[in-house]
Amino acid sequence: GQFPGPPLNVTTNWNVVVNVRNALDEPLLLTWHGLQHRKNSWQDGVTGTNCPIPAGWNWTYQFQVKDQVGSFFYSPSALPLHRAAGGYGGIVVNNRDVVPIPFPFPDGGDLTLFIGDWYLRSHKDLRRSLDAGTPLGAPDGVLINGLGPYRYNDSLVPPAIAYERINVEPGRTYRLRVHNVGVSTSLNFRIQGHSLLLVETEGSYTSQQNYSNMDIHVGQSYSFLVTMDQNASTDYYVVASARFVTDPGAVDKLTGVAILHYSNSQGPASGPLPAAPDDQYDTAFSINQARSIRWNVTASGARPNPQGSFHYGDITVTDVYLLQSQPPELIDGQLRSTINGISYIAPSTPLILAQLFNVPGVFKLDFPNHPMNRLPKVDTSVINGTYKGFMEIIFQNNATTVQSYHLDGYAFFVVGDGLWIVD
Ligand SMILES: *[C@@H]1O[C@H](CO)[C@@H](O)[C@H](O)[C@H]1NC(C)=O
Ligand SMILES: *[C@@H]1O[C@H](CO)[C@@H](O)[C@H](O)[C@H]1NC(C)=O
Ligand SMILES: *[C@@H]1O[C@H](CO)[C@@H](O)[C@H](O)[C@H]1NC(C)=O
Ligand SMILES: *[C@@H]1O[C@H](CO)[C@@H](O)[C@H](O)[C@H]1NC(C)=O
Ligand SMILES: *[C@@H]1O[C@H](CO)[C@@H](O)[C@H](O)[C@H]1NC(C)=O
Ligand SMILES: *[C@@H]1O[C@H](CO)[C@@H](O)[C@H](O)[C@H]1NC(C)=O
Ligand SMILES: *[C@@H]1O[C@H](CO)[C@@H](O)[C@H](O)[C@H]1NC(C)=O
Ligand SMILES: *[C@@H]1O[C@H](CO)[C@@H](O)[C@H](O)[C@H]1NC(C)=O
Repeated sequence: GQFPGPPLNVTTNWNVVVNVRNALDEPLLLTWHGLQHRKNSWQDGVTGTNCPIPAGWNWTYQFQVKDQVGSFFYSPSALPLHRAAGGYGGIVVNNRDVVPIPFPFPDGGDLTLFIGDWYLRSHKDLRRSLDAGTPLGAPDGVLINGLGPYRYNDSLVPPAIAYERINVEPGRTYRLRVHNVGVSTSLNFRIQGHSLLLVETEGSYTSQQNYSNMDIHVGQSYSFLVTMDQNASTDYYVVASARFVTDPGAVDKLTGVAILHYSNSQGPASGPLPAAPDDQYDTAFSINQARSIRWNVTASGARPNPQGSFHYGDITVTDVYLLQSQPPELIDGQLRSTINGISYIAPSTPLILAQLFNVPGVFKLDFPNHPMNRLPKVDTSVINGTYKGFMEIIFQNNATTVQSYHLDGYAFFVVGDGLWIVD
């Protein structure tokens, strides 16, 4: 009965019990983006390790939040495009009282924003379209907490659209947790007249830096401290606008606008929206911005010891995988993206059951560790990782759009990035 879904506000070491009732007419799973489930991978909510919850049934997840603090979110994961229909909510893992956070506790408290692209067609229509070999095409809009744009311009936004209004007190500082829950669109996030002090991303405290705007890609989560330090002569625009869209004329339509309302505000927001980065196609801007984010290695994490006391440089890497994504192409009449030439197909027997009961022929442990230049195919091919090993993964994006990767149940550390040349 709530949208976004109920927030999970928990503290390190808590045991979380979530009873999920599936009132859809198709199977459902929830995945807990970014949370690690090292000892019980079936809590990840991924088909293969967790049986989907059948329509009309319920299932209780139970896991302990350990070794991680920060901002995460949950969303449906059993069938493609479920998330396009909603079903997501925020996860906050707080520090224990004995562990200090590396900034003064924000006196305004927490605010959570979900930004994402939106299609008017239902998730089933979208799925049917892909299954019939037709690309999804451009989304129809960008939502903020499920609501459409404030009417900042009469000719661009139709009347009577419900929009999100964020109520704040002047002078206070808020921790704003922003998640891109969309299907495929990178969004630039900004607030008119206010700086975003980045303090945390994906459960790691960062070196604190001010940004006037931030590119947030699908699946990413950021915490900013925002101080209500402007005069309240007006309300202010909160904007999430599409990046790297193929049709530049679509950007106006793909702009989500919410309202930041001071309790003593004198009037509605006015003026032009705060400017997006100059060049819609400037991927270098986005990459350089990502590179400007540094881990604060002297800040605490889930434990009092600084995050930097782990010596990642000394880790023995056991497996190296080069994963190359290719643009979708028709395989057996369906439009499918591939990694190293393989498009995963879920078997009817879940992977973990096949492994537990030694059922032969369900999956192959032969996922190649580099692109093979073979004809693309669908297969149930699985990476043979080394138990307790440390894997280095190189993602090469040979598709024509931005790709996000989500490693269910694992945390990982970016050690490098760059452009590569296709010869
Ligand atoms: C989350 O929990 C913490 C600690 O229990 C509490 O201080 C805080 O007010 C809660 N936040 C929200 C948004 O409920
Ligand atoms: C289903 O929900 C009911 C009512 O909340 C609860 O008693 C029961 O334990 C749940 N079953 C499972 C498998 O989670
Ligand atoms: C890093 O964390 C430390 C410890 O909490 C804090 O004092 C310092 O201000 C932080 N540095 C930056 C650049 O954010
Ligand atoms: C509204 O948008 C249109 C189309 O981009 C533009 O021509 C017009 O100047 C805008 N109006 C205002 C008041 O900004
Ligand atoms: C960030 O911006 C705010 C307000 O503009 C300012 O008060 C603060 O000192 C800045 N912090 C840093 C670390 O630059
Ligand atoms: C409030 O700030 C705006 C923008 O900086 C400025 O134009 C306006 O004059 C200010 N109003 C008051 C009452 O200080
Ligand atoms: C998977 O890797 C282990 C060693 O880590 C090896 O013993 C085993 O033969 C491999 N399995 C397959 C099917 O290649
Ligand atoms: C990567 O994409 C380019 C452009 O689509 C294509 O020409 C090239 O063959 C691809 N490289 C590989 C290794 O598939």
